[in-house]
Amino acid sequence: MIVPINHPIAQAKLSILRNKDTSPDLFRKSLEELSYIFVFYCFEKAELETVTIQTPLDEAMGFKLKEKYIVIPILRAGLGLLPAFTKLIPDIIVGIIGLSRDENTLEPTQYYTNLPSDLSDFVGIILEPMIATGGSINKAIEILIQRKIQKIKVCSIIAYEKSIIKLNENFPFIEFFVLSIDKSLNSQGYIVPGLGDAGDRTFGTLVNCQADLIGK
Ligand code: URA
Repeated sequence: MIVPINHPIAQAKLSILRNKDTSPDLFRKSLEELSYIFVFYCFEKAELETVTIQTPLDEAMGFKLKEKYIVIPILRAGLGLLPAFTKLIPDIIVGIIGLSRDENTLEPTQYYTNLPSDLSDFVGIILEPMIATGGSINKAIEILIQRKIQKIKVCSIIAYEKSIIKLNENFPFIEFFVLSIDKSLNSQGYIVPGLGDAGDRTFGTLVNCQADLIGK
């Protein structure tokens, strides 16, 4: 299921991310702020269990999250969306998947994975800010399914239209939370209009995609 995040504050933050003149510092800050909005969307229907709490005056019924959660940022850009997940859900587990994209074939190569071997008890939340060809997110989903995960959510800032439609068809059990669905992909595999290279803009390592995208 594709869940569009149309919240006005999220859309205003997205415009900051898209702007080619936004500094890495403001880019990171805006991503971090957006991570809170993603948490609210992802956990809106989370199951709760009841607990009994002693207030200073009496016993009260309270709640805690029922399921176990693992958040998985895909390196590097996914790290930008991590802060709210660890701040608001302190006992969440952070798994890591490192994927790099071959510049010619655009195929993902898995260079690092740090995940529990059995994820059957977990709800997995993948952080992948840009879904372009869909290669990386497909690979990440495959890795989680191999580890027997049953429930997956994906948080993405911008997705290329054709890729997100296909992902949604292939994985109807996954919730894809997205701020924008953009219509084009260029020959280098960058989303247009997009926001450029999310990893480079987050970490200030701007390289060769600007002439084509950010700088036009
Ligand atoms: N990755 C990015 O960071 N940006 C794109 O436009 C596509 C993939």
